[in-house]
Amino acid sequence: MTVTLRDATHADAELIAGYEDEFFPGLAFDECRVSLSDDVEFMNVYEYLDDPETRIVLASIDGQNAGYVVGWLHDGLIETLSIGVREAFRRRGLAAQLLRTMEDWGRENGARISELESHALQPAPSKFYPSQGYKHVRTEPGYYKDGGDGWIWQKDITVTQKLASGGLKS
Ligand SMILES: CC(C)(COP(=O)(O)OP(=O)(O)OC[C@H]1O[C@@H](n2cnc3c(N)ncnc32)[C@H](O)[C@@H]1OP(=O)(O)O)[C@@H](O)C(=O)NCCC(=O)NCCS
Repeated sequence: MTVTLRDATHADAELIAGYEDEFFPGLAFDECRVSLSDDVEFMNVYEYLDDPETRIVLASIDGQNAGYVVGWLHDGLIETLSIGVREAFRRRGLAAQLLRTMEDWGRENGARISELESHALQPAPSKFYPSQGYKHVRTEPGYYKDGGDGWIWQKDITVTQKLASGGLKS
């Protein structure tokens, strides 16, 4: 199994928008939006790609598009705005690798905390983030378009953590 990570370019905008629809059906707003919520400020994919404080990393496995992560550096945080792995490639450690890529980028750029938000009722993120060392620090009631609460997760990234499940599974 060969995993390739690369930074997205404008040529990837449709792929990224497709991921948003695939991973967050009913929560993404239109084909150019990355954010899942309309009560936060959000930008379109092209603006993200041109903004030095945001980064979109794409993953492929054996040449097939497998997933992505969108990160935003601000206020001493690296905030992961979106992360998703296609069903066929799940439970192989790919999301963990994508998240670490953002944590490393954040740390290199002075961030001390990695932060994420997930829909309170989504079961996979509620398991995934704690497995990566994240703590549920607060709840944003009714944050999502469907009225669901947002759970805010944080991790101190000033110390690199060696996780037991560090490598990719074949
Ligand atoms: C959440 C998501 C990104 C996880 O991707 P993934 O590549 O399968 O995750 P990993 O393989 O890196 O998982 C690492 C660990 O997280 C936990 N985990 C991940 N998905 C899980 C699930 N569905 N159920 C229980 N635990 C899970 C496990 O502890 C796993 O380790 P293990 O496989 O050795 O048990 C993926 O399910 C996804 O894309 N879901 C749809 C989009 C989404 O919900 N994104 C997050 C929005 S906040």
